[in-house]
Amino acid sequence: MFNKVAFLLVLLHFIIITIASDPDPINDFCIPKSEDNSFSCKNSSTATVEDFIFSGIKLPGNFKKTGFSSMGVNSNVFSGLNTLGVSFVRADFDVGGVNVPHFHPRATEVAFVLEGKIYSGFVDTKNKVFAKVLEKGEVMVFPRGLVHFQMNVGDGPATIFGSFDSQNPGLMRIPNAVFGSEIKEELLEKAFGLSSKELSKLKKRFSLS
Ligand SMILES: *[C@@H]1O[C@H](CO)[C@@H](O)[C@H](O)[C@H]1NC(C)=O
Repeated sequence: MFNKVAFLLVLLHFIIITIASDPDPINDFCIPKSEDNSFSCKNSSTATVEDFIFSGIKLPGNFKKTGFSSMGVNSNVFSGLNTLGVSFVRADFDVGGVNVPHFHPRATEVAFVLEGKIYSGFVDTKNKVFAKVLEKGEVMVFPRGLVHFQMNVGDGPATIFGSFDSQNPGLMRIPNAVFGSEIKEELLEKAFGLSSKELSKLKKRFSLS
């Protein structure tokens, strides 16, 4: 009997670990002492309300050529998030602006449309697309690690606020990871059926941002 209970407790422990994205905190909060070491916390009695407030996303960031601007706020940017297992992003779209296909290796994202009409979707591991035009006030969830994308299809600017269940979700933009990295050209030409001219055009486009 005892063995069964012990076994179930161990099993439950592993299930909880598997579900949790970031480790559970062992203190109320942990404002890092220095930028380089997020494991060493300031004495909590020296924390102030300012440690828990971030004021850097009142306005959109710089727009790229794709008509898109994003400001990811993870624990490296906002140290008050450290150990809390959450982070967020503000993203703004010009008319027609595109958030290229990308994924977050360490987090599920919940995206709330603050303004505008946004064609929004993700692709699952069977290459099935789940996509729809979201209106202001609607929310979409992008499961952890799956490729997702957005485009402003309205006739005015659009804005979303995304939340992540990790303090450091990570971001991989597919075009940049493939064409903006240093993967051998011969491999990319063969993999995508591109001439070297076509490839250099893509490399040029995605090397910078
Ligand atoms: C944190 O600061 C308080 C107040 O100054 C002090 O009493 C306490 O010992 C400190 N804790 C640690 C772990 O240094």
